Amino acid sequence: MNELDFGGKEVLVVGGSSGIGNGIAQAFRAKGARVHVSGTRNSASDYKAEEGSHLDGLQYSQLDVSDPSAVEKFNPGFDRLDILVLSQGAVVYRRGEFEMEGFRKVLEVNLMSLMACATKFHSLLAAAKGSLIIVSSTAAYHSTMGNPAYNASKTGAMGLTRTLGEAWAENGIRVNGIAPGLVDTKMTKVTTSNPKRLEGAIERIPLKRLGTPADMAGAALFLASPLASYIVGQTLIVDGGLIL
Ligand SMILES: NC(=O)c1ccc[n+]([C@@H]2O[C@H](COP(=O)([O-])OP(=O)(O)OC[C@H]3O[C@@H](n4cnc5c(N)ncnc54)[C@H](OP(=O)(O)O)[C@@H]3O)[C@@H](O)[C@H]2O)c1
Repeated sequence: MNELDFGGKEVLVVGGSSGIGNGIAQAFRAKGARVHVSGTRNSASDYKAEEGSHLDGLQYSQLDVSDPSAVEKFNPGFDRLDILVLSQGAVVYRRGEFEMEGFRKVLEVNLMSLMACATKFHSLLAAAKGSLIIVSSTAAYHSTMGNPAYNASKTGAMGLTRTLGEAWAENGIRVNGIAPGLVDTKMTKVTTSNPKRLEGAIERIPLKRLGTPADMAGAALFLASPLASYIVGQTLIVDGGLIL
């Protein structure tokens, strides 16, 4: 038996239009799954490979999770779901998260929408005895001085992973999470496009390189597979040793 064969499985990656979610989506596709992704733009052709978006072979739908009614109305057009990955995320720089408008926006996208998406697909996941994977962050383990909303949302995401893990085990759904360290995506360009900041960041990572979406995908495949059949409510740190 090949435990990493996802042939015949239906996967949805919210926030799968770019970066980490996109890497996870392409990894499930490469292992045989039919993969749906969502992002904020109108259509798949609005995304470019240079931004970390590879949408070939994926079914794309638009979904802006900052609008709760959009999640309610969302219909990606499938009636079976084995694996739901929640990789949507936003951050506001330049102290915008110290204003309530910015704080609320980030909490809505990074935390409230996790619960909205998880509950929306609960019955399909239960029917399939499926798996839910929540992408939080190593920010859940320490302060991130300029980004109080990002930090609170990611700490909340980790707590939600634990609690849904316990609550939904009886429905046959395994809920787990991934906490990435520093991964090269459009979200982190503010660090990676500045040579001095990039050098400082790499210096702090024991493996001496940034993470890639493919590094995160390895953890997602494992957590969704029968290799992880007795793992529930855990968030796996995938950070090259950054927070050791
Ligand atoms: N990169 C890192 O170092 C790092 C570290 C720890 C955790 N993370 C987390 O990893 C996840 C993925 O981030 P990433 O680094 O891959 O960044 P990214 O490339 O910017 O991807 C973010 C994803 O979230 C989607 N998204 C953003 N706002 C949304 C909204 N209002 N409604 C629906 N979807 C929305 C984006 O859609 P569009 O493509 O349309 O913008 C995109 O698909 C996030 O939860 C992030 O917090 C990242």
